This record gives sequence, C-alpha cells and structure tokens, in this order.
Amino acid sequence: MARKSWSFRDSRLARRLVMAIVLFSSLLTLTVTGVQLYLQYRLDMSNVRQSADIIQDSWVPALTESVWDYNTDLIELQLNGMINLPFIMEVRLSLADGQYFAVGHPAPKDSFLYHFPLPHVDHGKRKKLGALTVVIDTHQIQQDLVRYALTLLISNIFKAAMVVLFMLFIFHILLGQYLIQIVAYLRGDDGHLSGQPLTLQRKKRQNDELDDLVDAYNDMAECLELENRQRLAESEQRAVMQQQLAHMDRQVTMGEMATSLAHELNQPLASITGYADVSKRFISQHKLDRVDETLTKISNEALRASEIIRRTREFVRSRRTTQELITVSALLEETVLIIRHSAEQYAIEIDLDLSLVHNDEVFVDKIQIQQVLLNLLRNAIDALKEQRSDRIIKIIAQTLEDADKVCIQVMDNGPGIDAKVLETLFSPFVTTKDDGMGIGLAISRAIVEAHHGQLTAYNCSHGGACFELTLAAKNHE
Ligand SMILES: Nc1ncnc2c1ncn2[C@@H]1O[C@H](COP(=O)(O)OP(=O)(O)OP(=O)(O)O)[C@@H](O)[C@H]1O
Ligand SMILES: [Mg+2]
Repeated sequence: MARKSWSFRDSRLARRLVMAIVLFSSLLTLTVTGVQLYLQYRLDMSNVRQSADIIQDSWVPALTESVWDYNTDLIELQLNGMINLPFIMEVRLSLADGQYFAVGHPAPKDSFLYHFPLPHVDHGKRKKLGALTVVIDTHQIQQDLVRYALTLLISNIFKAAMVVLFMLFIFHILLGQYLIQIVAYLRGDDGHLSGQPLTLQRKKRQNDELDDLVDAYNDMAECLELENRQRLAESEQRAVMQQQLAHMDRQVTMGEMATSLAHELNQPLASITGYADVSKRFISQHKLDRVDETLTKISNEALRASEIIRRTREFVRSRRTTQELITVSALLEETVLIIRHSAEQYAIEIDLDLSLVHNDEVFVDKIQIQQVLLNLLRNAIDALKEQRSDRIIKIIAQTLEDADKVCIQVMDNGPGIDAKVLETLFSPFVTTKDDGMGIGLAISRAIVEAHHGQLTAYNCSHGGACFELTLAAKNHE
C-alpha cells in the first residue's frame, strides 16, 4: 500500500496542537518569568537593605569617630570601603563645618538615596557632625533584572520549542500516521479500490486506548469488507439469474410463436415450390430464358426464409449483451415482423406509427429491447384475445423535445390493467393469468433500467392499457 508521508503543513491537527502548545507555553512562560523577576527584585532590594544596615551598624559609628578626630585619610578609606558594598554607586559625606567628600560615580538626580546622620555625644551633649548619603545603583538593579529576564525567556522558549517538537513526534507516532492512513484509504488515494482493505498496525502494542482503537477499526474494516464482498457476490448472482430468466422468457416467447414461425416460413416455402413448378414447366416448353428469372425468385424466397430463421435463432440464443446503434424505426419494424402473425391469429391489428419519430438512433442491446417490446405486445395480445370489438394495438414512437430521448408507447383497446396488480405490476410473480409466470414485466423493467431508460404503465382514459418505454437517443437530423 502506498503511504502518503506525513508533513506538518498538511496536518491541520498538528498545526492546531502546536498553536495550543505555543499559546499555553507563552502564557506560562510570561507568568513564570514575571513571578521569577518579582522574586529577584525582592532579593535585590533585600541586598540593598542589608548594605544599608551594614553601613548603619558598622560603618557609621566608625566614620563618626574618624570625623570627630578629623582624620581625612581614614575618612576617605572608610568611604572607599563603603563603595564596595553591593549596589552602592556613590557615597557622599557633608560635614557640619561645610567640608564635603564624595566617592564613586556621580549619580543621576532621580537616584534612590539613603541618609545617615553622624551624631556624636560629647560630655553628655549630642552633636551632629554631618550627614552621610549613600546612593543606590538602581540602574544596575534594572540591568540585572533585564539580563535575568532575557535569560529566563530564552531558556523557556527553548524548552517550549523542544516540547513542541516532542509533542509533534508523539502526535505522529500515536495518532497522525493512523489518521493519514485512514483518510488516504477512505479517499481511495492509496489505490485500495483495486486491492486489499485497510488494516492498521502498530509497530509495538502497548495495551492502551490506541490499541483498542486500532483493534476496533480493524474489526470494523473486516466486517465492512466481508459485507461488501457478500453484496458484490449477491449482485453478480442476481445479474446472472436475471440473464437466465431473460433467456428463459425469450424461449417461452418463442415456444408460443412456433406456429407463427411455421406460418412465416410457409410463405417463402410455398413460393419456392410454386416457382420450382413454373421453372419445370418452362424447361419442358424449352423457354429457357424465363427459367433464369424464376430461379432468381426462388433464390430470393430462400434468402427470405433463411432471414426469418436467423432472426428467430438470434432472438432465442443470445445470452451476452452487445450494444449497437440502431434506428428506432428499424427496431420497431423488425419487432412487429416477429409478432405480427401471432396477432393476426386473433384478428388483432398492429398499427405502427413512426410519424412522430425523427431519424433517431438508440444505442441498445437490440435483442434485449426487442424482448421488452415483445413482452408488451404479447401482454397486449393476451388482453385483447377475449375482446369482442375491434382489436387494435397501437405502437407510437416519438422524439421527446426537451431532451435527447425517444418514447415508445404500446397501447391496446383491451380491458386495461387490473387495479389489483397496477401498483405491483413490475414486481416478479405478479400475474392475473392462469398460465402466466408474472415475470415478463419484471424482466422488462430490469432490462430497461440497465439501459438507463424508464418503463411505466397506466390505464388510458378511453380504456385499455398503455406502456411507455423511454430511452436515450441520438438524433441525426
Ligand atoms: N396490456 C395489458 N392489459 C391488461 N393487463 C396487463 C397488460 N399487460 C400486463 N398486464 C397485467 O400485468 C400482469 C403481469 O404481466 P407480466 O407480463 O409481468 O406477467 P404475465 O404476462 O402474467 O406472465 P409472463 O411471465 O408469462 O409474461 C399480467 O398478468 C396482467 O394482469
Ligand atoms: Mg407477460
């Protein structure tokens, strides 16, 4: 079985899965990153507070001492020591006498500041020696946070991409490949129409829901295949039976028409005997020039007889279906020729009206359509046998204007179709006759439908039955 390879572009389910994962993981990544950034910010701020506490607890007392002693070297050393604490950008010292010290980078105006007064108690008197200002490097905190956020984002995006790929792989292994096989099979892309039914197979069974699904699908496919095969076998059997029935039907027709055949053959044979006697007479009278003429007539009559036999044999024997183009008029004329004598036996007139049909040709199995027409004509003869008044069968062929179709009507002036059988007329074994099988019309409709035509029946308003046979036609006018 030719398998279509899987592609992400063709798989709408996989695309939706990826979209869902990307959306979900983006949301998750943003939330987690936000929370982590907030925690990091809290940590940085607590570090800043720790630095401030260290300055307050350790550096401020030592610095106060240095200021009191006015030891500028020590003051500068201490300020330089403070600048090394985390997140301290600048340290400024303003003394009460106006002296000013500053260490570190000059900070922007909106910087975050800590102020520490430098109090000194001398002989019980509290004096303010100056003030220490520590500038926090918020810019560095921001930069750290941005760097941290970027690292988090990149690592989360990478993780999400890996998860997407993994999910796609799992999706394909678990579902995608089976879905593709099923779709290709249902569409007939994999050529199964000429071959085997689709059977799903997993490389390794895992005893999970997917195994259940594969088993359930395979069971269903097997059942369907079995049913399909049975249906095919049945329809083939039906077709063979229909053909056999049709053949039987023709044999019955011919059995009934044996007298007609004898009569038809009688005419040319009688003519041949007559012409042979005339020839003998001409020979005895030495009129040899007239002999040639009568021999030609004998030959023509013999040909006519053999043509009658050929037509009859062809009608009874034919089992196979071969379609050919034949004009509607030729088809009807030949059919009437076959049945005319049977009708004459019961003084039934057959009126063939071809005035409404153009030079139409139908592409049909001639023998089968003749069989349909003969069934209709035999039924009409049966219906007219007991009729007292004039017995007429009218056959009217006409070209239908709306479509390339031809309609052949077979009407009689008999009692019409019995209301009891009218609804089920075309079902097998529906008959009102003692010796009827009730298969003539059922076979006829099957034949007509196999030709994509229609066969319908109704009772005429002025009495008698009317059968309408419609076939596709080609008009050559
Ligand atoms: N022209 C008709 N006029 C009146 N009734 C008809 C006519 N054609 C058919 N029927 C009715 O339809 C029934 C079914 O016809 P169908 O040809 O199928 O079977 P059948 O003629 O009874 O038997 P067979 O199988 O020998 O043809 C007939 O028995 C008859 O009652
Ligand atoms: Mg019949």
